[in-house]
Amino acid sequence: MTSARLHLDGKDYELPVVRGSEGETGIVIDQLRSSSGAITLDPGFTSTGACRSAITFIDGAKGILRYRGYPIEQLAEHSDFAEVAYLLLYGELPTQEQSAAFRADLTYHSMIHEDMKKFFEGFPPNAHPMAILSAMVASLSTYYPGTEEESNEINFVRLIAKVRTLAAYAYKKSIGQPTIYPRNDLSYCANFLHMMFAVPAEEYVINPVLVRALNMLLILHADHEQNCSTSTVRMVGSSRANIFASISSGICALWGPLHGGANQAVLEMLQMIADDGSGYQKWIDRAKDKDDSFRLMGFGHRVYKNYDPRATILRKMAADVLDELGVSDPLLDIARDLERVALEDEYFVERNLYPNVDFYSGILYRAMGIPTNMFTVMFAIGRLPGWLAHWKELREDDSSRIYRPRQIYTGYTERTYQPIESR
Ligand code: SDX
Repeated sequence: MTSARLHLDGKDYELPVVRGSEGETGIVIDQLRSSSGAITLDPGFTSTGACRSAITFIDGAKGILRYRGYPIEQLAEHSDFAEVAYLLLYGELPTQEQSAAFRADLTYHSMIHEDMKKFFEGFPPNAHPMAILSAMVASLSTYYPGTEEESNEINFVRLIAKVRTLAAYAYKKSIGQPTIYPRNDLSYCANFLHMMFAVPAEEYVINPVLVRALNMLLILHADHEQNCSTSTVRMVGSSRANIFASISSGICALWGPLHGGANQAVLEMLQMIADDGSGYQKWIDRAKDKDDSFRLMGFGHRVYKNYDPRATILRKMAADVLDELGVSDPLLDIARDLERVALEDEYFVERNLYPNVDFYSGILYRAMGIPTNMFTVMFAIGRLPGWLAHWKELREDDSSRIYRPRQIYTGYTERTYQPIESR
């Protein structure tokens, strides 16, 4: 193992260096504080690795994304979401037998306890579905309190199976329609669309174009290494909290508009630009103005300094699916024009700001009839296998410890309490 040398306050410190399977270099600093008394400081963790992981590889400069070594482009084209969920969780593509068993489990465990349906009655009609989803996922731990050793594997399946049902029930609740039970004769994505859009009064015809599009959307969102919500799941999991509490925390982290909440913010931004009608330059200029809080939502990424490969796939998919459905969406035209204008502007070019996964995904969800406030729920359904895989990887690593970062204190030095009369 090679090493790096730190020279600090007249002393030299040798720090071990590790190399990843793709040649990434990591300086191991876990003994730095005990040997030098110093810590590193990296707000936002732009240069700090939290762990070793074998699940997903991203090369931000080249726009590469691979799940367990398989390029995202191949998985999006040839696989489906249930198979990708299996791959992320267990590290290998399933055999015919493994695939059939996994899919049967997802079907068998798709219902929620009938008593949980009463929970939905307590939420106000305009409750955001992300609030409902995080609350309901945490509540699952009250129905499945089993000890970890005996129940982790089945709880991974329960969560992937039931997250669709919880999401669809939240949607039905928000529009005042009766909930639709999952059906055992439908595939993972077809079952979700049926629960979302079927009504008792008429037969809902499953559209294979939408099933294929949903599979691709969920595949593209399934994992993305140490992003904010996955790091949150690992953080909570590191305290040995149960899987339901850990996933519920990931849902809350994903909700933020800088993260998974961006897909909802993109559609709201595109609609605002459409309603405003004064063209793109005004919005490009606002996005560049440091004194203006407006940002071009769906643009930029902490890791990708090139096109987000998922955005490239989604950009083409949005046009293809709308064509196949025979619908047009003026917001797609606005998105593509906005992308063209932004990428001709040096502000975005010199900062390597390209469309990310959230820029086009909302156009597709809209084409499926999914309301804007459900977009981040769709992201959560897709990201769930990734969260589970990282939680599993952390818990199976005997060397993993509770996440407990340090800080550089900048507050008052010691001072003496003064009674209120003398203040
Ligand atoms: C996701 O981490 C992941 O992998 C996340 C994700 C996943 O799959 O899990 O990929 C999913 O969260 C995608 C990102 C979705 N969020 C958005 O689309 C929100 C808009 N984008 C930004 O807020 C921003 O780009 C972030 C949050 C995505 C990245 O933030 P960083 O890495 O902290 O970058 P930064 O804010 O420091 O920006 C660097 C510069 C700044 O300008 P300067 O100070 O250098 O002059 O770029 C500017 C920023 O002002 N900038 C933008 C911008 N994004 C960055 N300016 C205008 N519009 C933007 N969207």
